[in-house]
Amino acid sequence: MALRNYSLRCALIVLILFFTTAPAIAQPEEFNYDESKVPDYELPDPLVLQDGQRITDPEVWIKTQRPYILQLFEEHVYGKAPAKPENLQSELTSMDHTALDGSATRKQVTIYIGEDKNGPKMDLLLYLPNESKSPCPLFIGLNFNGNHTIHPDPAITLSQQWVRNNEEIGVVDNRATKASRGTAQRRWPVEHILERGYGLATIYYGDIDPDFDDGFQNGVHPLFYKPGQTKPEADEWGSIAAWSWGLSRAMDYFEMDEDIDPKHIAVMGHSRLGKTALWAGAMDQRFAVVISNNSGCGGAALSRRRFGETVSIINGYFPHWFNDKFLNYNDNEAALPVDQHMLIALIAPRPVYVASAAEDKWADPRGEFLSAKYASPVYQLLGKDGLNATEMPGIHQPIMKDIGYHIRAGKHDVTDYDWERYLDFADRYLNK
Ligand code: GCU
Repeated sequence: MALRNYSLRCALIVLILFFTTAPAIAQPEEFNYDESKVPDYELPDPLVLQDGQRITDPEVWIKTQRPYILQLFEEHVYGKAPAKPENLQSELTSMDHTALDGSATRKQVTIYIGEDKNGPKMDLLLYLPNESKSPCPLFIGLNFNGNHTIHPDPAITLSQQWVRNNEEIGVVDNRATKASRGTAQRRWPVEHILERGYGLATIYYGDIDPDFDDGFQNGVHPLFYKPGQTKPEADEWGSIAAWSWGLSRAMDYFEMDEDIDPKHIAVMGHSRLGKTALWAGAMDQRFAVVISNNSGCGGAALSRRRFGETVSIINGYFPHWFNDKFLNYNDNEAALPVDQHMLIALIAPRPVYVASAAEDKWADPRGEFLSAKYASPVYQLLGKDGLNATEMPGIHQPIMKDIGYHIRAGKHDVTDYDWERYLDFADRYLNK
């Protein structure tokens, strides 16, 4: 890992704690918020082949270039993840058709990753609308602090996993308490999502890999080590790739649940989990719609702009999120064989929505917009609209094309405004 120096590591731990618990994020020194100081940069063109030829045939994108770019992201950014395990097992632990005053069916399902039921497992919480078509389309999003935080519903199993300490949300000694229930409900308008005809599925991201740098000793990584291996290789998966991989395992479950329509699933995530949603959508084409909320650096924002959070800052604070090869691009973005517009292009022709917040400069709203814009030629090659905008729209002027985009007023967060747009966007593709 990049940072071996003890005092630096201590400072980082403090910063990580701060970053992951504070609702609005303060930024460290040495970053740029001045548009006039964005360096000149040249983006790799997703439609130019390795031999310099321009792609004009959609088949060449699908068969040659897309797999090539996907592999570049695996190798240099997020890391290679294992295939679907053969021994995946799921167990329905509770079901109630009268949840949320009778409007919903609540299911809780445990997905065991390996054969050992005491090993890593994911608890999936599902709310399915009783008053709508079955099998139903749904949104899946990982949550930050446990399924029990998304709604005060007392029947949601209280997570037993390691959670980052935060007294404000009732986490004591890294364990959730009853006081944690419903503490994130503001970000999860469950009833409204159901009223609009969608189910909602969520998993605590720490079930897949607890979000701290322990050299990948906990979470799902060790299950896949080769004999003698003690940590991922430099090109193998970091935590974001693991969280994304967990989303695909949830998709494996959706394909087996008759109440769910696996062809109409939107994957949504905020911030680090927005980065995760994009990578999940790129890797797993079963996700029909992909939504990135304020995903920033390593998500939708262009790395080469070096605006707000940069590659070296993110690798310094969160050395476990990406693979070790990504460290080669600290203050060296021009050497990256990809940039984040190519991540969005990997989702084509499926609809993708990128959302920014005006005060969330750390995530570089303009860089998020530009990624969406520069991914558009790939959508157009595949007969879609792409973003269909050259200039960044004003606040609260959403673009609803095959690449959707909005910038709303306010801070780094998930708000009702965001959800309303995602539901409208999903209606165009999922709930006809
Ligand atoms: C930090 C980090 C961001 C990340 C955010 C979050 O601010 O620097 O990259 O998106 O945490 O996940 O909340």
